[in-house]
Amino acid sequence: MNQKVSIVSTGSFLPEKILTNADLQKLVDTSNEWILERTGIKERHVISNGEATSDLAVKAAQNALTQANLSSEALDLIIVGTVTPDQLVTSTACYVQNKLGARQIAAFDVSAACTGFIYSLTVGRQFVMGGNHRNALVIGAESLTTVTNYTDRNTCILFGDGAGAVILQPGDHGHEILYTSLFSDGSGSEMMSRPSGGSKMPNTVETIQNRLQYLQLRGREVFKFAVIKMVQLVKDSLSKTNLSMKDVALIIPHQVNMRILEAAAEKLEFPMDRIVINIERVGNTSAASIPIALDEAARKGMMKKGDIIIMVAFGGGLTWGSAVIRW
Ligand code: UT7
Repeated sequence: MNQKVSIVSTGSFLPEKILTNADLQKLVDTSNEWILERTGIKERHVISNGEATSDLAVKAAQNALTQANLSSEALDLIIVGTVTPDQLVTSTACYVQNKLGARQIAAFDVSAACTGFIYSLTVGRQFVMGGNHRNALVIGAESLTTVTNYTDRNTCILFGDGAGAVILQPGDHGHEILYTSLFSDGSGSEMMSRPSGGSKMPNTVETIQNRLQYLQLRGREVFKFAVIKMVQLVKDSLSKTNLSMKDVALIIPHQVNMRILEAAAEKLEFPMDRIVINIERVGNTSAASIPIALDEAARKGMMKKGDIIIMVAFGGGLTWGSAVIRW
């Protein structure tokens, strides 16, 4: 069975609370000018006490369901890409299934850091291609600010919270997924990690005192990796789909850093005004970043029927991947 699969609707949600560069200046030795110049970020949305990743995911999902004119009872699969689950035991997807009032369907999380949405989309597409699933909900949702070290100026300026969702159906009546690719290289796992809190190093008073439960990055190394992978992913996606750069209407990249996107655009000789960017308002939301940018672009009317869209992501793992959509 190898049938076509389409995205039939999109949705996104950003929590209300905002953390500006001026707020960060009060926490660490940094400045609005430095953050803006080095990352392109002005502010990010942050979850509030009592809110969890599944709450953001549910709101994004409800937007996508409304747009598709579907009730949650029509769903037969829920996949959540996240590295900031509500809890380590009980997948965020199970919380989403319950909060949406969906039937007792398959629901699971996918862990691929910033590539989490592309991984989840690919898995969802395979399920729908298999022929037994007709309405698959695929979400990227993160609350990275809950695992951010607000005494480390190298990382705390980057991250925000949010969620984006799509609904997949068999057929080409929506925005057809033409191609997806997934890659990994575990030898680079230390480039981005949260050392403690897993089986390798359970949290203790000492690990907490040393702040090992928070995200650590080798920013400069990630920077180089991201530029190389963004260029490779776009070129690979085009060659596998027999398309060329001039066929591409928009690139929707993981919102990692404005300078990374500019460097990759220059190498690809692709105009910046056709790269969807919301990093200024949203920051880096890991697995949520592409589906949020996709939904915002769709709602702004940036895509027209037939447009070729390439989505590219790269992140912890290391992982990277792409998806080509005919809008
Ligand atoms: O989605 C995957 C996760 N994302 C990433 O890993 C992000 C990828 N990397 C980046 O976006 C960039 O590497 C950063 C934004 C993290 C850092 O930018 P950079 O241009 O690579 O700066 P750098 O790390 O080379 O640091 C340059 C200087 C250093 O000072 P010295 O050693 O030159 O005196 C840093 O200590 O800037 C200093 N610095 C800061 N200064 C003010 C680092 N962070 C800050 C800060 N405010 N927040």
